[in-house]
Amino acid sequence: MCSPDQATVGEFLIALVYTGRVSAEIHPRAIRSFVTRAGRITEAQQRALDVSWPKYGVEFSAQPLDLAALFGRSAPRVVEIGFGNGENLAALATAHPERDYLGIEVHRAGVGRLLLAVESAHLTNVRIACHDAVEVLEHQVRPGSLDEVLLLFPDPWHKKRHHKRRLIQAPFVALLASRMNSGAVLRLATDWEPYATQMLETLSASADFVNLSPDGRFTERAPERLPTRFEKRGTRLGHGVWDLAFQRT
Ligand SMILES: C[S@@+](CC[C@H](N)C(=O)[O-])C[C@H]1O[C@@H](n2cnc3c(N)ncnc32)[C@H](O)[C@@H]1O
Repeated sequence: MCSPDQATVGEFLIALVYTGRVSAEIHPRAIRSFVTRAGRITEAQQRALDVSWPKYGVEFSAQPLDLAALFGRSAPRVVEIGFGNGENLAALATAHPERDYLGIEVHRAGVGRLLLAVESAHLTNVRIACHDAVEVLEHQVRPGSLDEVLLLFPDPWHKKRHHKRRLIQAPFVALLASRMNSGAVLRLATDWEPYATQMLETLSASADFVNLSPDGRFTERAPERLPTRFEKRGTRLGHGVWDLAFQRT
């Protein structure tokens, strides 16, 4: 379920785990890359969460997923982490019926929006996880099973004391590398230059990836990437956009 109480329960568990009152096999992570937004859910989104989630939703569990069984076939697999409203993921899945797309997002309204888009376009190649992507990748995605990973406009966590919440850091890059096939491509974009620099430095320091940019820095915007909600917002604010593409060795 993409439950509204998930974060509250998670935070309660963290409190118990970190006060030593319980020990659980899967501990919710202490430092997360997101905060739960209460956010308004429209009636249509709520209906999609109620009706369509059982068809497209992937429940979180500690067991690895059988992705071939989940999609009913073996096809190239793309994961989009933090898809927001899912406009880019829905467009890609429509343009590439030969690929399978697993979207991971904790924001319920965004999950509801993507469910609506998937239903209205009759997409059969999309599944959605409503859970922390770090835990989904760690526990549910088998090593070497992904052909492409998209991380578009991840939360930049501007303040220095929050930098530890940024997703792109060496341990997460190692986790991504472990889940990707040799030759798979990791595509990132951000509108926050210091985070773009951090992405470039962290990925360049990893022996698991090579930069696809001819000058070893940033790439052209991927032609099929739709402007996402956060990208449009950044553009309105006069921000630049930095795209990166790295290939798994
Ligand atoms: C700044 S928004 C960008 C959304 C979208 N990619 C776009 O460009 O409009 C970052 C998104 O990542 C999601 N997110 C952050 N950390 C996450 C995590 N660990 N697992 C799943 N989603 C996450 C947030 O809920 C948020 O919707």
